[in-house]
Amino acid sequence: MNTQVYYIDEDNINKSIIHKSSSAIRECGNVVFPTETVYGLGGNALCSEAVNKIFKAKGRPCDNPLIVHICCLDMLVYLIDEPLSQEAKKLIDKFWPGPLTLIFNKSIKVPVEVTAGLQTVAIRMPDNPIALQLIEDSGLPIAAPSANLSGKPSPTLADHVIEDLDGRVEIILCGNKSKVGVESTVLDMSGSVPTILRPGGVTKEQLEHEIGKVEIDKGLLELNITPKSPGMKYTHYAPKGEMFIVKGCESKVVNKINELLSNAEVRGLNVGILASDETKNCYKSSTVLSLGSKDNLDIIASKFFSSLREFDKQKVQIIYAEAIEEKAIGIAVMNRMKKAAAYRIIEV
Ligand code: TXA
Ligand code: MG
Repeated sequence: MNTQVYYIDEDNINKSIIHKSSSAIRECGNVVFPTETVYGLGGNALCSEAVNKIFKAKGRPCDNPLIVHICCLDMLVYLIDEPLSQEAKKLIDKFWPGPLTLIFNKSIKVPVEVTAGLQTVAIRMPDNPIALQLIEDSGLPIAAPSANLSGKPSPTLADHVIEDLDGRVEIILCGNKSKVGVESTVLDMSGSVPTILRPGGVTKEQLEHEIGKVEIDKGLLELNITPKSPGMKYTHYAPKGEMFIVKGCESKVVNKINELLSNAEVRGLNVGILASDETKNCYKSSTVLSLGSKDNLDIIASKFFSSLREFDKQKVQIIYAEAIEEKAIGIAVMNRMKKAAAYRIIEV
């Protein structure tokens, strides 16, 4: 397939490119677009054919449901089969457009391919002007997983998308770097206590501030419990190099990583280190990438996926990553980091 790649200025959006893209959506094509979390691989959420093409382009297992992206509350009402609860209204008011996905009972308008056979549908309103104009101009809700090949780190830059999907989709819309850098928080409100099925851009504390107690799905915390969200059972986001997380107090982590680094270099391996601004100068040689200062978890989140891709580019064979503090958006980063490392954690 010949993919058309367009670069768009988010502050001065070229309407004719949006029109071309929304025509492609209406004709069951796939269009990649930027969002504030990661880039999305979109298709008409009401059309099984468009949705099947998304799964094929990404190489995604068909038992993993998609998030439907909307631009207005009329679309929400059309897609769901339940009255909006007071809590849902509060969250929508506060966090949409933004990195929060809510799970609802689906209406019959939503094809089963979108929800992988579930009776619920995941919905969010993205906070990006290109995404919102594309949805509005096509007049359709857009189903979109992250725009990476299945198993690869999610794309936060247009270059990442081109790397993975050039030749596999009709159109790629290139905007800015994704601001948030990790995917949306997925929240299930069907039980007695709202439950986070995937930690993401909106933190547990932020949710609790609006609606009171929120739980985290136990399947995310314990390896022997199956997560409620189908996608969370897959090892995602993996860089090509074998990754290990080193966790503990700063000085011990630095010493341990230096010891591991020496051993790996003796074996002739190309080593990458995922560090912070505070520690990046403590490591000799090799590829050291900093996620930023430990004091700014938002910046750390925004750099995480692109760092994994950078290690791939540098042909790194083994990666030692400093653990991030598991609070606020750090919980979402550590969730991705553990998966990228296939849960190999060295405690010091
Ligand atoms: O930030 C994001 O959410 C990005 C951008 C593009 O919006 N999208 C994204 O989509 O991360 P994807 O497909 O990579 O991840 C969707 C997650 C998966 O873990 C999936 O299993 C879960 O949402 N999900 C979708 N529908 C669900 C449902 N009905 N019940 C439970 N989990 C669901
Ligand atoms: Mg994804």
